Amino acid sequence: NRTSLWGGRFAGGPSEALARLSVSVQFDWRLAPYDLAGSRAHARVLARAGLLDAEELGRVLAALDDLEAACASGEFRPTIDDEDVHTALERGMLERLGTLGGKLRAGRSRNDQVATDLRLYLRDHARGVAERLVELADALVEQAERHVDTPAPGMTHVQHAQPVTFGHWLLAHVQPLLRDLERLRDWDARTAISPLGAGALAGSSLPLDPVQVAKELGFTASAANSMDAVADRDFVAEFLFVTSLIGVHLSRLGEEVVLWTSQEFGWVELDDSFATGSSIMPQKKNADIAELARGKSGRLVGGLVAVLTMLKGLPLTYDRDMQEDKEPVFDAVDTLQLLLPALAGMISTMTVRVDRLAAAAPVGFTLATEVADWLVVKGVPFREAHEITGKLVALCVARDCALDEVSDEDLTLVSPHLDAGVRDVLSVRSALAARTTPGSTGPGPVADQLATAIDKLAGW
Ligand code: ARG
Repeated sequence: NRTSLWGGRFAGGPSEALARLSVSVQFDWRLAPYDLAGSRAHARVLARAGLLDAEELGRVLAALDDLEAACASGEFRPTIDDEDVHTALERGMLERLGTLGGKLRAGRSRNDQVATDLRLYLRDHARGVAERLVELADALVEQAERHVDTPAPGMTHVQHAQPVTFGHWLLAHVQPLLRDLERLRDWDARTAISPLGAGALAGSSLPLDPVQVAKELGFTASAANSMDAVADRDFVAEFLFVTSLIGVHLSRLGEEVVLWTSQEFGWVELDDSFATGSSIMPQKKNADIAELARGKSGRLVGGLVAVLTMLKGLPLTYDRDMQEDKEPVFDAVDTLQLLLPALAGMISTMTVRVDRLAAAAPVGFTLATEVADWLVVKGVPFREAHEITGKLVALCVARDCALDEVSDEDLTLVSPHLDAGVRDVLSVRSALAARTTPGSTGPGPVADQLATAIDKLAGW
């Protein structure tokens, strides 16, 4: 029955309302493999401490293996009477070992157990998220490779600004993902600390060996402070910050794909298998994956806010509030595991309309800065060059013509500094080719950037 973990002091079982509020096994059951791994390490440390003899250790380990297999096959399932994953698995051990199953509780509390389980789960699943991130980055890189020379109208404020290469633009979505991968990596280094041995909060009077347990579970060290070990959920909040930021990055990419695939832009066509239609309008082709990328950032950010708000003001050490830490991280992992492969597929199969992009690149006087820079090279102070170029643009707007369509006469009329020579810089090609400094949009630096990105991704 439900009082099995603390029956002694209590006259009766919990009320139905308490049990229903308290139960977490419906979501924390996914921690079972990690709880079992922790139990294996704990059984060994109890044996080394002389608290389990060799025969008992053998039986406990065999029961853990058997229970693990039964969990994996679905033969052992939590019931509505199991409060949480720890309670359920203890029942499984008692069913297999009788009273010997109760020895595993020595020197351990659900407080250090749950903190350990969640660290193990998240370290494991962060690797999966990183792999999916690499796949999306690879898809963007592959597209970028095809468009190192493809001109596009770079934008600020969603207004045409200066020509860029579309490869450069795609790589601008890869850089944040590379930073996210680094964030996951250094998050892992901080999360690789084992809480086991902290017990409820004070450590244990039993001769346990937290350092050895930490090693066995793949952690780099055991916690420096048993109170902090059970109170700390930084690793949860930090993980949710990283997943939130990933969500933000994916939402910005998603928004651009929505724009690019619109009739007005027409820069990108999605593959049929990564687009959706309408139940009423037969002609529709929608970028639902991109929209879901935009939309799902909301739940990722929401999870971060929920956990920070839950932790704020909590007294040390463990408080039951902290049971609320799990669903947001589980949801973040599930969300990214669904979203990232869909985005990667959408990006790698999309067709870029090079003709439309190239035609759009000079529209909106995106070469005006080239005129100003040409004047600067001739010795005109930029402030004046900016003014002169502005007048030239105003003339073109009034005449509804392009910058390179202004006659020699009119050029000198706008400014004696201007002459026919300026037309040399008035092509998108020359504007792109002129950008040779590291990190800029010219085909040369973009090729360098591409090589570095490929290198970094290969090393992941
Ligand atoms: N289900 C609990 C949680 O997720 C486990 C720890 C419970 N500890 C306790 N002392 N009530 O936080």
